[in-house]
Amino acid sequence: MKPMQQDYSKYTDEDRLVWKTLFDRQMKNLETMASRQFIDALQEVEFRPDKIPDFKELDKLLGSKTGWAMEVVPNIIPQKDFFQTLDLKHFPATTWLRRMDQLDYLEEPDMFHDVFGHVPLLSNKAYTGFFKGMAELALKHLDSPLAIELLGRIYWFTIEFGLMNENGQKKVYGAGIISSAGETLYSLSDKPVHLSFDVRSVMQSTFRTDVFQEKYFVVDSFEVLYESLPEIEKVLKEELESARLLDKSAAM
Ligand SMILES: [Fe+2]
Repeated sequence: MKPMQQDYSKYTDEDRLVWKTLFDRQMKNLETMASRQFIDALQEVEFRPDKIPDFKELDKLLGSKTGWAMEVVPNIIPQKDFFQTLDLKHFPATTWLRRMDQLDYLEEPDMFHDVFGHVPLLSNKAYTGFFKGMAELALKHLDSPLAIELLGRIYWFTIEFGLMNENGQKKVYGAGIISSAGETLYSLSDKPVHLSFDVRSVMQSTFRTDVFQEKYFVVDSFEVLYESLPEIEKVLKEELESARLLDKSAAM
């Protein structure tokens, strides 16, 4: 099948206005609330409010920094395809934008989430090292729904909803927060619980996808995430083993 491409000439005035409105609105929050690493990464990928990112340009920019590239997908793709794409250092992203009357709520991620939220940090070496390592781990365990669920929790509480400790202050970097003005403010408020990143605690934390998170895990750096990959593999093995033993005793 021919890979899908971004048709840059198809963007409308409404698309450009949506990108600019969300970008400007979110930057007001992010300047003080986002991790410095994310703000620096935005510069690296040259994102601007008055230009919808062009995937061809992103491929060149990311390619020279981390070797990653964009892969256009119509919507959410099956888990197996998702991890296989990441393993090739290709990031699956949509190219369509929500409408002006959907600025605050969408059921499926659009380009503002996929691209504004996820792509800047694909220029960061430690972050992409972690991302690729997670994909490799998932590919080893595709036949185990439980393993994928447990790895999915690590993914959820880092890549999508992670917070970072920066000079004693909590900052946001997870794409699900970065692309949501409401959750940016909420995640740093005193309403949710903030916990230090710990592989086993994350793996034992369930989550909901339809509400703001009740808890967020705070990590000290992307290097810490990258260096936690062997521990993620070890804890995963232990969790799978204890689930197997439980199953066995329940069957007796
Ligand atoms: Fe996402």
